[in-house]
Amino acid sequence: MSCSDGPADRAPQLLAIIGGTGFGEYAGLTNITPAIVDTPYGTAYLERGLLHQVPLVFLPRHGQPASFPPHRVNYRANIAALTQLGVSQILAITAVGSVDTQLPAGAIVMPDQVIDYTHGRAQTFYDDEIHHIDFTYPYTPALRTELAAAVVTLCERDPLMVFRPRGVYGCTQGPRLETAAEISRMARDGCTIVGMTAMPEATLAREKGVEYAGLSVVVNAGAGINDQAVDLDGITAVMVEGMGRIRQALSIFVERRYQVGGPV
Ligand code: HPA
Repeated sequence: MSCSDGPADRAPQLLAIIGGTGFGEYAGLTNITPAIVDTPYGTAYLERGLLHQVPLVFLPRHGQPASFPPHRVNYRANIAALTQLGVSQILAITAVGSVDTQLPAGAIVMPDQVIDYTHGRAQTFYDDEIHHIDFTYPYTPALRTELAAAVVTLCERDPLMVFRPRGVYGCTQGPRLETAAEISRMARDGCTIVGMTAMPEATLAREKGVEYAGLSVVVNAGAGINDQAVDLDGITAVMVEGMGRIRQALSIFVERRYQVGGPV
């Protein structure tokens, strides 16, 4: 993938980063102001802060301290709170398992598609009126291009890094991990990675007209891929390293976007 020159023709926007498992706090933000925001759907915890002197919002998806499992995250309150603050773009960070057997632990994937296997989640702001959204491309193409350029820059500095600029995120209900048969089915469906939180988050962002892109760190092989049980103990080290890389990529993204500091 070639690097873009950045969004010269796009107006600066208020950016939010939604952090997932392993990314519940954002080391590197300064001037942090925490807030609990009331919305018609409940409350959301978030932090306003500066990254390279640029204002942005950080929202830990599972709460602070992390207490809401994926099926109980209040996705509507989270997205509504961000839009109430004027956020117009979201970068969503997730930890995932691999479905594609070629993906090693530690790889970073920027999904371009989703298959939703969840059920029973509050998944729309339009429960009381008929309102359809186009969701052909669940992740915003222009934002993905800009984000990919930042990750590619990081790859150029770190030859050990594996980056896939597209992939299908299969979103399962959790909180249990999948069976081997479920992962086989997801592979046949065309999934690249499996996680529990992309949906309904991406839908709700689209309903609010907020641009949305994601970066996922592969922290384990999907169930059955290695002919053995998922190694839950091995996840932490991979996660720490992967989330460190995500932080660096976001730093490059913000520096380039707002043309702060020296050349990136
Ligand atoms: N399945 C679902 N969600 C996940 C996984 C997985 O294997 N790993 C991290 N999040």
